[in-house]
Amino acid sequence: MFELKFFNDINDEISSLRYEVFVEEQGIDESIEIEHDEYNYLHLCLTTDNQLAAYARAKACSGVFHIGRVLVKREYRGQGLGRKIMEYGEKIGLLNGCNIMELNAQHHAVSFYKKLGYIGQGEYFEEAKIPHLKMIKNI
Ligand code: COA
Repeated sequence: MFELKFFNDINDEISSLRYEVFVEEQGIDESIEIEHDEYNYLHLCLTTDNQLAAYARAKACSGVFHIGRVLVKREYRGQGLGRKIMEYGEKIGLLNGCNIMELNAQHHAVSFYKKLGYIGQGEYFEEAKIPHLKMIKNI
């Protein structure tokens, strides 16, 4: 069983899982991972057995739902939870008056987002020393 919910600010469980995946696993600089204005985002959470297993951060701006920091806890990957948190993002995006989903995909995750209907825009660029591609999806 899993549960989907969102929070209006970051909490300890979220920051700890983001640290585990982005800082420890991917080597992203800790100083840029958590930002000063996390309270300006929606924090989308998928829990299973009361444990945070998948997460994404989102913000609505002029009809576009910007998604970021998408992750699935390592031991839960490959079970469809990444798809579930992204589909939840679309639902919350629509509820926030958005018809476009937008994200910057890390190069290794581009095929994952393509499977979910995202289309790459322009050229790859570097962010946090990782090649990224802007991708969008109409919802
Ligand atoms: N490349 C290609 N396809 C992928 C993929 C990848 N890296 N990861 C998943 N897929 C495919 C799956 O095979 C599945 O296809 P299917 O529906 O045909 O069976 C579909 O995408 C959905 O996969 P799912 O099981 O929901 O993905 P996941 O739970 O493993 O989560 C990530 C995918 C990318 C979120 C996860 O690997 C992760 O957290 N990585 C570390 C953090 C990260 O890099 N986040 C992305 C930042 S942009």
